[in-house]
Amino acid sequence: MSASQSAARRTVLKGAAAIVGAAGAGAALTACSAETAGGVGGPAVPAEPVELGAAAEVPVGGAKLYREKKLVVSCPAEGQYKAFSAQCTHAGCVLDKIVEGEGNCPCHGSRFDVTTGKVLRGPAAEPLPAVPVKAEGGKLIAG
Ligand code: FES
Repeated sequence: MSASQSAARRTVLKGAAAIVGAAGAGAALTACSAETAGGVGGPAVPAEPVELGAAAEVPVGGAKLYREKKLVVSCPAEGQYKAFSAQCTHAGCVLDKIVEGEGNCPCHGSRFDVTTGKVLRGPAAEPLPAVPVKAEGGKLIAG
């Protein structure tokens, strides 16, 4: 099953297919139709809710990268969370770290403001797409 999903994803995402593998196998069992409808050509934004673990793991005034989920969550103030895709809008690499509030793309050095998604340094030109996120029972749910 995951082989056919991988094949479909490869068709859609080409270069990003290798990155998708681990996250896709568990999370995408029912996502095929949603991907066909809305995911073509765009960066990876979860088509269904993704649980990210304890909300307390995101420091107030800071951010946390969920690389395997391709999401970044920031917490501008206690109890407030913002999530963005962690997939670089340049060529689809996943951000590898957050340095002083800037999400770093390891491929060509783009930097993004993880509290707004804004590009701080190219070559990426488009901001990281926002993803809805909420804290429920102390856990973060994105998508
Ligand atoms: S893929 Fe991120 S800078 Fe090129």
